[in-house]
Amino acid sequence: MALDLTADQKDLGRANAANVLSELSRRGFMKSLAIGAGGGAAVSAASYFGYTGFGDKPVRTALIGAGDEGGILVGEHNPDFLRFVAVADIRPSNQKRILNGDPKVPLRKGFKKVYGELEANKIKITHSYEEILADPSIEAVVIALPLHLHAPVAIKAMEAGKHVLCEKLMAWNIRQCKKMIEVAHKTNRILSIGHQRHYSMLYAHASEVLKSGILGDIRHIRAQWHRNNTWPFEWDAMANGALAKEIPQPIYRDGWFNPITQEEYNALNDPKKLQAYGYESVEELIRWRLYNATGGGLMAELGSHQLDACSIFLGKVHPLSVTGVGTKSFYGKNRNDRDSDDHVFVTFEFPGNNYFQKDDTGKTVIRDGKQLLKDKDDVVVVTYSSISTNQFEPYGECVTGSRGTMVVESETSLMLYNEKNPNSKAGAPKATVVSVSGAEKGKPALEASSTWGPAAASASAATQGPAGTTGAPVSRGYREEMEDFAFCIRNWGKDGYANGLKLPRCHGTVAMADAIIALTSNLSMKKRSRIEFDEKWFDPVAIQVPDADQKGRFDSQIFKS
Ligand SMILES: NC(=O)c1ccc[n+]([C@@H]2O[C@H](COP(=O)([O-])OP(=O)(O)OC[C@H]3O[C@@H](n4cnc5c(N)ncnc54)[C@H](O)[C@@H]3O)[C@@H](O)[C@H]2O)c1
Repeated sequence: MALDLTADQKDLGRANAANVLSELSRRGFMKSLAIGAGGGAAVSAASYFGYTGFGDKPVRTALIGAGDEGGILVGEHNPDFLRFVAVADIRPSNQKRILNGDPKVPLRKGFKKVYGELEANKIKITHSYEEILADPSIEAVVIALPLHLHAPVAIKAMEAGKHVLCEKLMAWNIRQCKKMIEVAHKTNRILSIGHQRHYSMLYAHASEVLKSGILGDIRHIRAQWHRNNTWPFEWDAMANGALAKEIPQPIYRDGWFNPITQEEYNALNDPKKLQAYGYESVEELIRWRLYNATGGGLMAELGSHQLDACSIFLGKVHPLSVTGVGTKSFYGKNRNDRDSDDHVFVTFEFPGNNYFQKDDTGKTVIRDGKQLLKDKDDVVVVTYSSISTNQFEPYGECVTGSRGTMVVESETSLMLYNEKNPNSKAGAPKATVVSVSGAEKGKPALEASSTWGPAAASASAATQGPAGTTGAPVSRGYREEMEDFAFCIRNWGKDGYANGLKLPRCHGTVAMADAIIALTSNLSMKKRSRIEFDEKWFDPVAIQVPDADQKGRFDSQIFKS
């Protein structure tokens, strides 16, 4: 993520992060760590996120959509909290894979590995999610369907009495998001959305570092997700069977331009059934991310995660404006063609700490329905790019402050560096060990010293670092997201919303903000213009939305009542 870091410099950055986290914890500035014998240790995700186990009654759950992401969720879930008893998916190959797992992707373990063969064979597997919704013994559904189906299926599920954990992006347009929230309240069902960074201890640590102020004045965050999908596609017909000849074959190896066998194509190619399932063609079903009618492009699929992270870093504030450029400059006719852009570049202005004028009570002053601006130059600029032709840098976020830099790489690694102070003897930041100096006026500060070399630093981090600082595997949050969802269900009650019962961290209103950011970015790129965010868009009960002219395939069904 930071272009020129060597392996040693990364080790040093991780050791610095471990040091700083421990020190912040010791000085009482961190909630996500507790100080134990060998330094700071992460408090359990459960207690940090506010849930506990609940005995031997896991939530009876169905998975709707057992594709790539459904497979990850099955591999990551904790059966003590949530027990899958049924699956709905229309693709024969994915029905098989969800049971048997995917040997090429160890995270997609499959039910047989997670539950054992005997129990796995008891899971009901059907093509019809309606059949699942009609089963009164199922308490909750996890929806991992293509984007255009999130709102219609989630709404039907809540109306059928099920609690819902739906994958991100929340919905295809913002009116649908607002309807989902409305239905959740009307039916008193829990609605959680799968932005897993809300449940990642690494991101919790990173946010607390930022909150402590030790990075100084933060004016810029750079986030990106770059991939290279330009390598030639190769297909092993002997091992995998013949490719369907009715649809264009992939020219490049591109996870969004999936191949399909002739056998699977024939099984799915029934126009009536396809229409009932929500598609105009088999190609649209298997390559849904490429089409405007079924997907939301790079911002919905990748950018939403990282803008979510940036908003968390900045204190869950909403952005002020977005300006974007998107191009389809690589793919084209007969070359993995698509509706969506293959390169996106977006720039956001977020409010700085003093952007909004405050009155004596510390609240934002509202006059004539408008928030008064104290200083319109007090902004933090977030730049985001997602490209398809180069992956020299992995994905991540880089927060640049006047006193230090924080790098989060690939959701698994947290690194910290100081800015070089010209008045001090400390060396170059990428070779400098940092810790936290005494809390001056109650505020901690980064302290640079050159006493340790990278080797010592990495040894130290390897033995005592919290999540993201050791190189050891880190939970990306999927497991915790499902545990939290199950806990909320078990502790839910009559009038749960009215009584203020615990909601999942990424409940509807939180997730809608991510959808607004991603989908407004798409509008900015489409119109090639700067768009200012309206606070009413973020209000679930206000009718205003950024994308009123974007009509979804199922809107007439969703908004019939
Ligand atoms: N949180 C994350 O990190 C993350 C990562 C990847 C994908 N996702 C999200 O997960 C969702 C699914 O993505 P994916 O990569 O698994 O896609 P996918 O195409 O691999 O899987 C979708 C599955 O849904 C099934 N399906 C489609 N329409 C159906 C219908 N009407 N009834 C029953 N089954 C149907 C398909 O057969 C397929 O198996 C998307 O919303 C995506 O954005 C989230």
